[in-house]
Amino acid sequence: MTRHLSATDANQLQAGDDHYRAYVGPPGRYGLLGLLQMNLLTALGLEETDAVLDFGCGSLRLGRCLIPFLLRGKYYGIEPHDWLIQDGFTHETGGQLRTLKAPLFSNDDTFDCTVFDADFDFIMAQSIVTHSGPKPTANLIRTAAQSLKQDGLFLFSFILGEDDTPLPEADWTYPFNVPYPKPWLDQQCADNGLVMKLINWHHPGAQWAAIARDPRRLEALDDQLGLAGKPAKRWRA
Ligand SMILES: C[S@@+](CC[C@H](N)C(=O)[O-])C[C@H]1O[C@@H](n2cnc3c(N)ncnc32)[C@H](O)[C@@H]1O
Repeated sequence: MTRHLSATDANQLQAGDDHYRAYVGPPGRYGLLGLLQMNLLTALGLEETDAVLDFGCGSLRLGRCLIPFLLRGKYYGIEPHDWLIQDGFTHETGGQLRTLKAPLFSNDDTFDCTVFDADFDFIMAQSIVTHSGPKPTANLIRTAAQSLKQDGLFLFSFILGEDDTPLPEADWTYPFNVPYPKPWLDQQCADNGLVMKLINWHHPGAQWAAIARDPRRLEALDDQLGLAGKPAKRWRA
């Protein structure tokens, strides 16, 4: 039984082990990966009135920073493993935050961003496309197109493959990675009226990308992103 180890003791566990910090990745990176996501959103102009979908939200690695910031009812999380959400509240934020900010959760596992019937300013999928096969990844991009606001942004981490990297049959390969050729991702975007740009933002093991419905939303995402601490100018529909 490793599930009730302290945060410090959990650092000895491997990615995928049965603990809310280890299940979602190497436990020593739990803090870093939360802040990298929150800081990326901040650099891209996150406002407290935004509606944000945390796709595959796990144990609230991002949610423990994002839920307190957003206004009530503005955080949405999709996560098939409900115990991760419960342990995140129990060990990181306290259950009162759930009452106070009324975040919405779904345990849907079909890679469908439309389950809440809501439109989002941001969709975040950290360490999801790194492990999802072509069918769910295509579904994720297609349903993101249906649930992003006109000036919304879909942010995700992925492993950049060669242009001729073959794609696996499997739908979910965690903890192993699925490298994606950029032309394949560009084609999924084009098929759904979206555009994609690789973004220069730190990640210890992957590449960040942003997808938008309107290319003007991607214009400000240059290599200086976040360096001055000033949010990028945010194109509005
Ligand atoms: C590597 S973890 C990343 C979690 C979170 N995004 C983070 O940064 O901490 C991958 C997450 O995807 C979740 N997951 C697995 N299958 C999924 C599905 N079909 N739909 C949504 N999330 C899924 C896992 O339960 C896990 O929480």
